[in-house]
Amino acid sequence: ALISMRQLLDHAAEYGYGVPAFNVNNLEQMRAIMEAADETDSPVIVQASAGARKYAGAPFLRHLILAAVEEWPHIPVCMHQDHGTSPAVCQRSIQLGFSSVMMDGSLGEDGKTPTSYDYNVDVTRRVVEIAHACGVSVEGELGCLGSLETGTAGEEDGIGAEGTLDHSQLLTDPEEAADFVAKTKVDALAIAIGTSHGAYKFTRPPTGDTLAISRIKEIHQRIPNTHLVMHGSSSVPQEWLAIINEFGGDMGETYGVPVEEIVEGIKHGVRKVNIDTDLRMASTGAIRKHLAENRANFDPRKYYTAATKAMKEICRSRYEAFGTAGHA
Ligand code: G3H
Ligand code: 13P
Ligand code: NA
Ligand code: ZN
Repeated sequence: ALISMRQLLDHAAEYGYGVPAFNVNNLEQMRAIMEAADETDSPVIVQASAGARKYAGAPFLRHLILAAVEEWPHIPVCMHQDHGTSPAVCQRSIQLGFSSVMMDGSLGEDGKTPTSYDYNVDVTRRVVEIAHACGVSVEGELGCLGSLETGTAGEEDGIGAEGTLDHSQLLTDPEEAADFVAKTKVDALAIAIGTSHGAYKFTRPPTGDTLAISRIKEIHQRIPNTHLVMHGSSSVPQEWLAIINEFGGDMGETYGVPVEEIVEGIKHGVRKVNIDTDLRMASTGAIRKHLAENRANFDPRKYYTAATKAMKEICRSRYEAFGTAGHA
């Protein structure tokens, strides 16, 4: 059944688990996410980005998610709109039947320019008013996603602040977060704690302090009833990076957020964990490998099946690691 993010994350908070929120663009991702959820008995958050709407079209994405609800009626599914850049975008998603929307007022409508705090409060509050009247949950964002190592947002296309960010923008302030939640009444808050979008997050192997865990704790202590969201939470699997490069790809050395650190975050109020890049890498690696090893094949279903299987394994391991498994 379709459920709101608030319902799902309230349950997650009560039982102390986190929920991966996977981006969805196509049938193969949708099936991978749902098959893994079915096998592990996990509730699901699937999210559609602006890029996904451009690629597949909003009606196709909507029906893809509704098809999943029909095929797996026993799995709770939250249909979430990722990174809305204006109230109008969120309003259209609400009208389409999304059960949850993100109003990302930390950036302007171009998805690149950092905004003022007052602008963020204003647009987010407006979306909450409309959404709550329709039973739809809202995620807001405070702070600028970006690596503390490089001071940049990382993502080339899509959502990410332009230029170099200073340290104070890269870590959400707990007092400001409390004020923001009081003024906007958001259900969930995306916080900046050292992650960034895309595959190129960190240039060096993780040493256990990738995330600003102490900042997560401070924010959670200040706003214990607000569900915290971590964007840019792909782990950038080194196995898939190696497979991509072994079979003709050319990705540079790069590292993501270790799963163990995300698990630590979940102990301190992180409930929604956004993952897109990991499924992209698994899918690309599996397809490259399949095509290289089956040179006579021209049936796309064969390599798409390999991609689905690879993505499904990532989904399963995140459901298990985050404690989502068993809570459907
Ligand atoms: O927020 C970024 C997500 O990874 C979505 O990216 O707009 O390229 O689909 P996208
Ligand atoms: P990744 O690029 O780390 O997968 O993050 C995805 C995300 O935050 C989508 O909103
Ligand atoms: Na932001
Ligand atoms: Zn994001």
